[in-house]
Amino acid sequence: MRTLRQRLLTTLLVWLAAVLTLFSVVVFLLVRQTVQGDIDQFVRDKAFLLGHKVIPSNPAAMVIDENPWRSDRYTVFGQTFDANWKLLFKSSRLAEPILPTEELKRLAAHPLGVVHQDVVGPEGTRYRIATVRMERQGKFICYAQIGVLLSERDRPLRNLSFWLAGCSAVALLLAGLGLDYLIRQWGAPLAALSATARQINLDSLGHQRLFAPPNAPELAQVAATFNELLDRLEAVHANQHRFVADAAHELRTPLAALRAEIEVSLRRERAPADYQHTLEANRLELERLASLVENLLALAHLDASPPGSAPTRVDLAVLCRDVAEQLAPLAAAQQVRLELALPETAEVTGESLSLERAVRNLVENAIRHTPGGELIIIKASTDESGTRVDVKDAGVGIALEHLPHLFDRFYRVDTARDRAHGGAGLGLAIVKAIQEAHGGTVSVESILGVGSTFTLWWPRAGGTPLPAGSV
Ligand SMILES: Nc1ncnc2c1ncn2[C@@H]1O[C@H](COP(=O)(O)OP(=O)(O)OP(=O)(O)O)[C@@H](O)[C@H]1O
Ligand SMILES: [Mg+2]
Repeated sequence: MRTLRQRLLTTLLVWLAAVLTLFSVVVFLLVRQTVQGDIDQFVRDKAFLLGHKVIPSNPAAMVIDENPWRSDRYTVFGQTFDANWKLLFKSSRLAEPILPTEELKRLAAHPLGVVHQDVVGPEGTRYRIATVRMERQGKFICYAQIGVLLSERDRPLRNLSFWLAGCSAVALLLAGLGLDYLIRQWGAPLAALSATARQINLDSLGHQRLFAPPNAPELAQVAATFNELLDRLEAVHANQHRFVADAAHELRTPLAALRAEIEVSLRRERAPADYQHTLEANRLELERLASLVENLLALAHLDASPPGSAPTRVDLAVLCRDVAEQLAPLAAAQQVRLELALPETAEVTGESLSLERAVRNLVENAIRHTPGGELIIIKASTDESGTRVDVKDAGVGIALEHLPHLFDRFYRVDTARDRAHGGAGLGLAIVKAIQEAHGGTVSVESILGVGSTFTLWWPRAGGTPLPAGSV
């Protein structure tokens, strides 16, 4: 494949060659027209001069001095004919007379007519000839002809075309060399930039960046854009790295607990009730592992943004009621009350399973962090700006310093206590990812010791992009 430099060079040279050719052709045609006009005027004037030399009373007996129509520039000859085109006189320079063609006879018959012709003489030489019909006081005197060798007109034109072609070729060569040099000069910073870009890999992503030379401000913009891309890539890479490390860490803890419990119970024979107790503990650990793996998968799906099932209109009033029903046993176990404040309908466009998961995660959290006897309110509402769901609890609340990190992956406020609850700190990160996929937001307001309100919000249709993925 041809490089940009080669293409640029070829295109410019082709254009230049076309312009030079056009210029040369125009110059050649103009000069040829001038030379032709010059010769035609010369032979016509001389033909009249010759005609005037003829003695009207006896044209055949004239004595002609050839000097008046001699020229330093051209080889000139003259001939005169009578009314019947019988040769009266021919220059001594002509070995054989050049006899008129029928066409010439016809054209020259016109009084005071002047005819210019390119003619081939008997010996094969080409001439430019002017023929004039001489009359004096209305009386025909003779046809007078003056001619010059055509080769004398063509020789300077040949020289001109040679010079034009030669100069064009030299100009093209010089332009090619100059352009090639300039393009290389301009392309050097670009080549340096691409060489640096080629060196950047995952290891050097953290510290290597592109720098455009100060004499190439156009490239500074390219380098800045590329560096921004590298920054984003670095952040994504660091996030993924942290995510994998956190996930491995979270998986290791329940697995280690499982192994320890099994090893202890295998150390000696035990009563069936002991085995049952151990197995029950193992079952709880396994449930925790299963939920963790399921959450990890959900996040991976959201990250990969697979095309979700076709988005539909989802009624949040119905969805919230379903979630409350699903979690009623958990709420009952915690002795908290769930209250619904729902309109007739509150519709958004989206993927219902994902949206249900988002609401469920919030209500689950609220139940977990609300002491027995307290109330949790699930409220949905719609106004002209959009639709929202609020999950309000009268629980332990969250300290201000935790709020900015609450939606980060694996973030837990009280690591020991939350892990004991079985939480890995992924629930709110999943809610955030689902909301982003639906063009919505999630936010929290909380007062320590008073309670928290988590709000899901979707802008009104038109401003609601379709979800990028589903869980
Ligand atoms: N309603 C709430 N009241 C008080 N603290 C909360 C509430 N909701 C969440 N939190 C705090 O925010 C942290 C992050 O919540 P998140 O749902 O992401 O994780 P989790 O519930 O601990 O684990 P997971 O949801 O993955 O099972 C929780 O550990 C908890 O400390
Ligand atoms: Mg949770």
